[in-house]
Amino acid sequence: MSNQSLEATVEPADVQSWIDAIGREPSAAVPLLQAIQGAYGYLPRKAMDLVIANTDVNASQLYGVATFYAQFRLKPVGRHLIKVCHGTACHVLGADRLNTSLNHILGITDEEEDTAANGSYTVEDVACIGCCSLAPVMLIGEEAFPNLSGADAQRSLKKHARKVKEVLPGHEEMQNEAKAKKAAKVQEVRA
Ligand code: FES
Repeated sequence: MSNQSLEATVEPADVQSWIDAIGREPSAAVPLLQAIQGAYGYLPRKAMDLVIANTDVNASQLYGVATFYAQFRLKPVGRHLIKVCHGTACHVLGADRLNTSLNHILGITDEEEDTAANGSYTVEDVACIGCCSLAPVMLIGEEAFPNLSGADAQRSLKKHARKVKEVLPGHEEMQNEAKAKKAAKVQEVRA
């Protein structure tokens, strides 16, 4: 299942302006993909189609480059990116447990999916991020969370969500219920 609601709106004029600035030849594939991903956070299908239609880069070249480099992603990304380190030290000390705990709290049950359905967080596996003495470690944005158990990862995520005023999946209903109860109480007092 894909998070279709997270798909970006692509303006053809924007893609054309990048093509005009960067070039049409096959060697332009990487910088064009970088421009697209820089704008949308991933490579939307519509933008890819526009590049294929308006340059000398064919579909197999473009998708070949997009899938070869780890920096590119073909699926929408959440408002916040969690990078779980899967370098050797983190892997040995339980990086998989972090993924399981994070996916659980974010309601990500589909193995093909890495983004919460409400678009809040994306969980991405990355290679060693260079602080192995802190393993297992994850980054949320630029902030590092060290020496994590699965429960620690969930606590850190909740703390981050509070800090940036992000709503975790499933919590929207809880918040709405709380608001409805509060409104009902106010009504009661007034009556
Ligand atoms: S293996 Fe995770 S920081 Fe190096």
